[in-house]
Amino acid sequence: MEILRKIEKYREEEENLRWEGTFREYLEIVKEQPWVAQSAHSRVYNMIRDAGIEEEKGKKKYTFFNSQLFGLEESLERLVEEYFHPAAKRLDVRKRILLLMGPVSGGKSTLVTMLKRGLESYSLTDRGAIYAIKGCPMHEDPLHLIPHHLRKDFYDEYGIRIEGNLSPLNMMRLEQEYGGRIEDVRVERIFFSEDKRTGIGTFSPSDPKSQDIADLTGSIDFSTIAEFGSESDPRAYRFDGELNKANRGMMEFQEMLKCDEKFLWHLLSLTQEGNFKAGRFALISADELIVAHTNETEYRSFISNKKNEALHSRIIVMPIPYNLKVSEEEKIYDKMIRESDVGNVHIAPHTLKVASMFTILTRLKEPKKGDIDLVKKMRLYDGESVEGYNSADVVELKKEYQDEGMSGIDPRYVINRISSTIIRKNMQSINALDVLRSLKEGLDQHPSISQEQRERYLNFISVARKEYDDIAKKEVQKAFVYSYEESAKTLMDNYLDNVEAYCNKAKLRDPLTGEEINPDEKLMRSIEEQIGISENAKKAFREEILIRISAYARKGKRFDYNSHDRLREAIQKKLFADLKDVVKITTSTKTPDETQLKKVNEVVARLIDEHGYNSTSANELLRYVGSLLNR
Ligand SMILES: Nc1ncnc2c1ncn2[C@@H]1O[C@H](COP(=O)(O)OP(=O)(O)OP(=O)(O)O)[C@@H](O)[C@H]1O
Ligand SMILES: [Mg+2]
Repeated sequence: MEILRKIEKYREEEENLRWEGTFREYLEIVKEQPWVAQSAHSRVYNMIRDAGIEEEKGKKKYTFFNSQLFGLEESLERLVEEYFHPAAKRLDVRKRILLLMGPVSGGKSTLVTMLKRGLESYSLTDRGAIYAIKGCPMHEDPLHLIPHHLRKDFYDEYGIRIEGNLSPLNMMRLEQEYGGRIEDVRVERIFFSEDKRTGIGTFSPSDPKSQDIADLTGSIDFSTIAEFGSESDPRAYRFDGELNKANRGMMEFQEMLKCDEKFLWHLLSLTQEGNFKAGRFALISADELIVAHTNETEYRSFISNKKNEALHSRIIVMPIPYNLKVSEEEKIYDKMIRESDVGNVHIAPHTLKVASMFTILTRLKEPKKGDIDLVKKMRLYDGESVEGYNSADVVELKKEYQDEGMSGIDPRYVINRISSTIIRKNMQSINALDVLRSLKEGLDQHPSISQEQRERYLNFISVARKEYDDIAKKEVQKAFVYSYEESAKTLMDNYLDNVEAYCNKAKLRDPLTGEEINPDEKLMRSIEEQIGISENAKKAFREEILIRISAYARKGKRFDYNSHDRLREAIQKKLFADLKDVVKITTSTKTPDETQLKKVNEVVARLIDEHGYNSTSANELLRYVGSLLNR
């Protein structure tokens, strides 16, 4: 019932927003809210801007795209700054078709869809409100009613520039229905809707031989010619092409470069002059954003064709390369999985990260500077700190190639591999190893990669696997260590007691027997060796620690586990080293004894409660790490 209530509420809201009045009344609205008369490009830009802009280190991030697109900030910034923004200001770029160029499944359609859905919602807001001549199939801009000779006066009074001519249909209606009285013409608020074909259109080419230009520009309605007497009577024309319907908003042109030229010329005249030819009428004005998308190969072959020369100077190409950040790629997979049928399967922690590492590696180009490898480059791109490099190096690296991110493995491929594994094996839980295995199998079946590429990719799978091994080991050790937090403290206290005795040439007292004993040299060395302190340097190190302790004491502070970085590191490493055997034994015995079993259960519980595993994936992880440590 909840949903029915929501539907009703939505309808009510839309009802409340409806407005209808005369042109005279509309002008009052324009006076108060001049933005209702903005151009299509300007509306798109304002929609993006109104959603919010975050600035970080001189880079802009547009909230509008946040929810669906990840890792494309730089391309999006360029798209907005070089196209939408100047186009909104009526600069020349708006007279060019926007062509998004990028590799398969790189998010182009997602981007276009966001703009469409965005415009639909925006048209329901005050800032995005939009009005049209009532009853016009092209939702014509009411301001077109103002005759040309008065437009300068209108500009002086309202500060709004009017572009475009009143369409033949509305010209006729003005005479016949309103007796030429412009101020009486009915105007209404409209709401963009692709389903209702209001302000949002999509054109996709079908068979070039059979496809009719009518799909774009509308057609004569032969059944009504008899009624109206002539083919050039606008009432005998159906303005129902995609260009007509998308007027005031946007039209997506799918597979534009596959399309017959005659279609393209219509678009060019539209973008260039703001009008297009339909039927036997004078040119029809239209105001809409036209977005097309293509991949690089198609684009190259298009511009290499001499015939297309005139066309390509009127297209603005915006590259949309793949995302190149591991953490953002993870978000893409996460989103795609949630949207899919396998959304309820458990995905072990780090699984998507490891898959993303593989994917990003396939997209990166070999650094030209000799001393940096691909894995480091991958880390740097993702904003991780890599010893010896800084953010200036990242800028340098990015400059090395203009076309990075235009090739490599696409997200859909990875998701398909993941979901087919899940479905085929009927899995309830999937981990990084399952995914890497599946990616590897997939490479053998992948139709479009060369032998050489396959080798390269297989190598990346092993690189990702190694990264995973490290992650897995640390994860398990952490899960073991946590319960050893206490033991870290105990171990340190023990070490300090011994150091103190050693420096003071004193003896210690055995806590159990009360006997006097010498400082435990073996224990102290086993800790110091962890951070490379040599036999010769041990004395200095121990004395330094004692000095530090007394300095702390003078200030009334307690020397603890975190007071000395190197000592802490040594203690941790020692614990890990001791642990190695515990982990090894606990995780790999087939028949654990009671204490081992207890330990395993404890660790599994911790992995589940604190690290996001389920019992299957936690046990798999333990088994895997056990096998790693036993190698
Ligand atoms: N950078 C990204 N951020 C978020 N999702 C992405 C990104 N890149 C790709 N995707 C996801 O990958 C899938 C494919 O993307 P989309 O269909 O938009 O690509 P496309 O560029 O139009 O591809 P094609 O060339 O095959 O038409 C979608 O589910 C999309 O959400
Ligand atoms: Mg697409």
